[in-house]
Amino acid sequence: MGQKEFKVAVVGATGAVGNLMVQVLEERSFPVSEIKLLASARSVGKTLSFRGKQYPVEELKEDSFEGIQVALFSAGGSVSKKFAPCAAKSGAVVIDNSSAWRMDPKVPLVVPEVNPDAALGHSGIIANPNCSTIQMVVALKPIYDAVGIKRIVVTTFQAVSGTGKRAIEELRTQVAEIANGREPKREIYPHQIAFNCFPHIGAFLDNGFSEEEMKMVNETKKIFSDPAIRVCATTVRIPVVYGHSESVNIETGKPIEVEEVRRLLSGFPGVKVIDDPSKAVYPVPLQAAGTDDTYVGRIRKDPSVENGLAMWVVADNIRKGAATNAVQIAEVLLSRGRL
Ligand code: A2P
Repeated sequence: MGQKEFKVAVVGATGAVGNLMVQVLEERSFPVSEIKLLASARSVGKTLSFRGKQYPVEELKEDSFEGIQVALFSAGGSVSKKFAPCAAKSGAVVIDNSSAWRMDPKVPLVVPEVNPDAALGHSGIIANPNCSTIQMVVALKPIYDAVGIKRIVVTTFQAVSGTGKRAIEELRTQVAEIANGREPKREIYPHQIAFNCFPHIGAFLDNGFSEEEMKMVNETKKIFSDPAIRVCATTVRIPVVYGHSESVNIETGKPIEVEEVRRLLSGFPGVKVIDDPSKAVYPVPLQAAGTDDTYVGRIRKDPSVENGLAMWVVADNIRKGAATNAVQIAEVLLSRGRL
């Protein structure tokens, strides 16, 4: 008997992440019998390639999910809020990349290297965490398991692709305008992004943190199932196209040597340690871009607190931070016989 195959829909297939979801399904040979590419009415008439064939983009509607078994969503929160329940109701497992469902207690929030079993308790919708959270918890998981983590202080350096296709265009256009001596135009971001950076991702909340910062706080607690873990985040947008970087400072529950951290991380799935700073060897976004691993370097003791560690964590935000993680969640369901 041949391998079981599945009817898969990708919602937001024309977007930066959605398009990559289609590509990652192909790269990882996910057993797809039929693919349905969904986007807004604006994209009807376009085609996208999957396994060397062109497929039409269809308009997302409430009845788009008939017969669909897996629905990968990346078309923003409001689309997910409205259409993920329709997909789940018609029998699909939704893996949703937006923030719409992440903190819903009935919805598992899953990073396959960290809490794969949580996926099995879904009732139709599984949430893919925020890109910055995913790479951080992957890098911290083996340390968490070995000695516990009491507190995390993280500063991110986030690529524009996380905002979507139009933001990538805005950065490229601004660079060209400046190179040509013209005043750069600004539409997506609150400030010029070319040759600049700003600590502003998502709206600011009453507590002074941004939405992105609070996602890192709340999602980390949920993924580790540890409400006691203390997290303070500062999230910064920088003029990089693909690849988020993070300065991560932690206080562990018990002492741990840097060599042991390196050993644990080197043996952990999905992590690569790149750490020889004297030779200028440490993770950088240009090298992480286009790959699925989480890279960790600059691992060192933080002598300013008891049991302190500092490190630098880089990953491709639209791959491990979004599309790859989503497809890996589907793979968990598949390998556990839950599809
Ligand atoms: P479209 O290309 O038709 O606008 P990005 O994050 O790169 O900006 O991509 C967003 C994705 O979400 C695109 O595929 C976009 O489709 C899709 N999208 C946005 N709004 C809707 C909507 N109301 N219905 C369906 N798809 C939508």
